[in-house]
Amino acid sequence: MTSNIETIRRDYSSHELTDAITTKDPTSVLASWLDQALNSEEKDANAMALATMSGDGYPTSRIVLARGLTGRTIQFFTNYNSHKGLEMDQNPKVGLTFFWPTLERQVRIFGLASKLSTAGSDHYFASRPRESQIGAWASPQSKPIKDRSELEKLYQDQVTKFQTAVSVPRPGHWGGYQVSIEKIEFWQGRPSRLHDRFLASYDGLRWTWSRLAP
Ligand SMILES: Cc1cc2nc3c(=O)[nH]c(=O)nc-3n(C[C@H](O)[C@H](O)[C@H](O)COP(=O)(O)O)c2cc1C
Repeated sequence: MTSNIETIRRDYSSHELTDAITTKDPTSVLASWLDQALNSEEKDANAMALATMSGDGYPTSRIVLARGLTGRTIQFFTNYNSHKGLEMDQNPKVGLTFFWPTLERQVRIFGLASKLSTAGSDHYFASRPRESQIGAWASPQSKPIKDRSELEKLYQDQVTKFQTAVSVPRPGHWGGYQVSIEKIEFWQGRPSRLHDRFLASYDGLRWTWSRLAP
């Protein structure tokens, strides 16, 4: 045994969450927490775990990058034929979790995923570096491949295909999702494991706040 994960401890004490949060719009709190994380975390503050439900009943999660937050919707981009894409086709209910260790914060989101408009996906795809655009054509995300050289060959084939193209078009199998947020839970680490947790739920008209035990 080389690790000491049994004994690693830290007390969370840098911030607190008071009942004042319940007077605020939860999506504004989310936007301001994300901004603070982007200014505090060393890297990948927009990385979030996306949980979907697999066909055989296993919850599955993986990291994706949040690429937009507007009102009650949060966006990310991926391959529509990937495991997660096929799972969201079957069940659009998803979970999203951010963890910001410097700020000692976690945010959990529950929502419904739907595909972004083609115009929205085209717009974002056009902003990506050409290598990433070609990668989106080349990678059959989530499918088995024989070895690294197969992947590199798939990539080179696409480089050749688009050699003379001024711009690379978006492949139909790649694009955005927007998650329409139904619940957000804000977690702030506090001393003695007495953390502050507030859950905001949207009923279609208004948000309701409640404090949860840690
Ligand atoms: C920091 C980080 C950021 C990532 N961002 C994305 C992303 O924005 N979109 C994406 O499709 N995969 C992203 N991935 C890869 C996914 O975690 C995952 O491996 C991939 O999407 C395939 O997932 P699936 O087979 O469950 O569909 C990222 C991984 C990491 C570690």
